Amino acid sequence: MTSASRLLRSAAGRVPDADARLLLAHTLGVPASRLLTLTAIDPDAAARFDELLTRRESGVPAQYLSGTAPFRHVEVAVGPGVFIPRPETEAMTGWALERLAEAGESPLVVELCAGSGAISLAIADEFPAARQYAVELSEDAVRYAAANLAGTGVDLVQADMADALLELDGTVDLVIANPPYVPLEAYDGIPAEVREHEPALALFSGPDGLDAIRVLARVAARLLKPGGRVCAEHAELQHASAPAVFVAHGGFDQVRDHRDLNDRPRFVTARRVGTVAG
Ligand SMILES: C[S@@+](CC[C@H](N)C(=O)[O-])C[C@H]1O[C@@H](n2cnc3c(N)ncnc32)[C@H](O)[C@@H]1O
Repeated sequence: MTSASRLLRSAAGRVPDADARLLLAHTLGVPASRLLTLTAIDPDAAARFDELLTRRESGVPAQYLSGTAPFRHVEVAVGPGVFIPRPETEAMTGWALERLAEAGESPLVVELCAGSGAISLAIADEFPAARQYAVELSEDAVRYAAANLAGTGVDLVQADMADALLELDGTVDLVIANPPYVPLEAYDGIPAEVREHEPALALFSGPDGLDAIRVLARVAARLLKPGGRVCAEHAELQHASAPAVFVAHGGFDQVRDHRDLNDRPRFVTARRVGTVAG
């Protein structure tokens, strides 16, 4: 028998502390906050933990090993084939929730590029009155999103965002998206762990990384009603080029860029103006 704190000490130097806690909590089936109260861990569990540490050392993301990732106040099921939700996206989701609170009784929300459904799940959790749709292209990702969004009332659609949900054109209050935005030319600069394990469709988007954001601006323009809002995540270096896509479209005003919880430029927001065509 050994204790959780001894196992965590033995993992130090092999993997980051946060990953060791996540993996030990997963092995023992307890919340991470309870770990330090556990003083009698049997050798089988210690061996399973050691096996997970070895897989983590080989580069497999901790969230794929534990099968979950935290996002705002929810736990999201993830695994190979789906993008792991990042804390960077939480600030944009918070901005969207503030806009929904101002938008009337049961605002209509569309999430594009939904991946695991983390954003839609957080909105369902924190603003249950919203009527929600989530659009995702990848079959693997849709399987996770379907599990994560089961019972929330979010309508999940497997489609290319370019021509999704035509029946909602001109009626939507808020479009939110964390699209792929890594420039293809930055391929070598992406950590091998991300490149080799997370799906390329979730990461890369043309030579300048803005291909999906250009499509997104067009789709948001057709879905939103006048006065509706769009928010889209982007890379730090796209703090000027991503807003420029919305300005160049011509169908938006109040185009602004925002910072994430680490004070880095992270998402653009805009308001739909004028008539719904375009
Ligand atoms: C960066 S991931 C974001 C996933 C999730 N929203 C999150 O924040 O964790 C981008 C997602 O967009 C999806 N995607 C890429 N191109 C798409 C398209 N044309 N239409 C719909 N989804 C697309 C990818 O499969 C991937 O799941």
